[in-house]
Amino acid sequence: MCDVKGSAFVPRRQRAHSDKASGGHQGRTAPDTDRGMPSGPAQSQLRLQVLRQHLDPPVAAVPAELDRLPCSVTEISQLTGQLLKGQVAIITGSGQGLGAAAAELFALHGAKIVVSDLDAQKAEQVADRIRSNGGEAHAISGDVTADDFPERLATGTVKQFGKIDILVNNAGFTWDGVIHRISKKQWDSILAVHITAPFRIIQAVAPYMREAAKKEIDSTDKAQPRTIINVSSTVGVHGNIGQANYSAAKAAVIGLTKTVAKEWGPFNVRCNAVTYGFIDTRLTQGKEAGKTIEVGGQKVTLGIPGGDMAAAAAAEMMIPLKRIGTPAEAAGAMLALASPLCAFVTGQSLEVTGGANM
Ligand SMILES: NC(=O)c1ccc[n+]([C@@H]2O[C@H](COP(=O)([O-])OP(=O)(O)OC[C@H]3O[C@@H](n4cnc5c(N)ncnc54)[C@H](O)[C@@H]3O)[C@@H](O)[C@H]2O)c1
Repeated sequence: MCDVKGSAFVPRRQRAHSDKASGGHQGRTAPDTDRGMPSGPAQSQLRLQVLRQHLDPPVAAVPAELDRLPCSVTEISQLTGQLLKGQVAIITGSGQGLGAAAAELFALHGAKIVVSDLDAQKAEQVADRIRSNGGEAHAISGDVTADDFPERLATGTVKQFGKIDILVNNAGFTWDGVIHRISKKQWDSILAVHITAPFRIIQAVAPYMREAAKKEIDSTDKAQPRTIINVSSTVGVHGNIGQANYSAAKAAVIGLTKTVAKEWGPFNVRCNAVTYGFIDTRLTQGKEAGKTIEVGGQKVTLGIPGGDMAAAAAAEMMIPLKRIGTPAEAAGAMLALASPLCAFVTGQSLEVTGGANM
């Protein structure tokens, strides 16, 4: 099970190797602390490598030897249950990263998934994976910022699965720059994808969430539970150098969330935000890897300069759990919020950070 005590994060076999790799802590990295925990940026970087090696494969392909990693994909996927049985969920940006992990996890809990992404091929791959694991999935690809997309997503979902119970607004990317250099296009693109698109998609699902609930209340006095999750970031709460556009958009997501919660609460539609810290996806990997996204015909390089070192340093200095999060762990928080376990939770912004920024 989830063993988050001390060095249990690195499997013992790996740890022996990591001790060797770091010179057995002979001066270059901090020695084990009195709690017996490996520490120092080098160790953190090593943990990150172990994570990458083992947690990148899709849920079904994770080797059993990983059972000693805390909250690994294996563990989370073994908690297969019925938390979302019969529900229909749209997840934007689910071709990879947090969205793909949520799509696979929600499917394991009985939801029918609309996998939506700018990258049609990746969306199809995730949908295929869900189907080959016995779930139901349908891909609707496109750019969430396109004028006609929100409507196409909502009507396409209802045509395929008959209803919409869960919406996760997750699609996004970063395009960093310091305030005095940020271009209008950089500003507009990031606000478009992170705040305007979620708002427009919420409007587009209104007939199937708010209006459907209204009809149920009129006829039976009771509306089915429905829920919206908007993905925010700690950057929206605390700001970040080089991310004026992203921090403004992610802060706005929290305001939008609380407003939807207030307006649609009477219709039994819950709306919460998840405020993620450092999660291991291409968004936080090294810019040097050269991963790009195309925005209005322009290639934007994703990631952060020296991503691995930044992740290791952040883990060491700012994160009490001493590591960055995995997409599966990020998805676990979404599942909890979407499930009946959180039936009385709405208008909240849940921080999923490993304890950073407490
Ligand atoms: N990784 C982190 O540490 C972190 C932290 C806080 C918040 N977030 C947020 O989590 C969300 C998911 O990010 P991730 O880390 O999984 O990144 P990712 O790059 O792995 O996945 C993001 C997905 O969104 C898709 N996408 C981007 N722009 C799109 C558009 N215009 N239309 C449709 N799809 C689009 C991409 O194609 C990609 O598949 C984002 O909103 C991001 O801001 C991530």
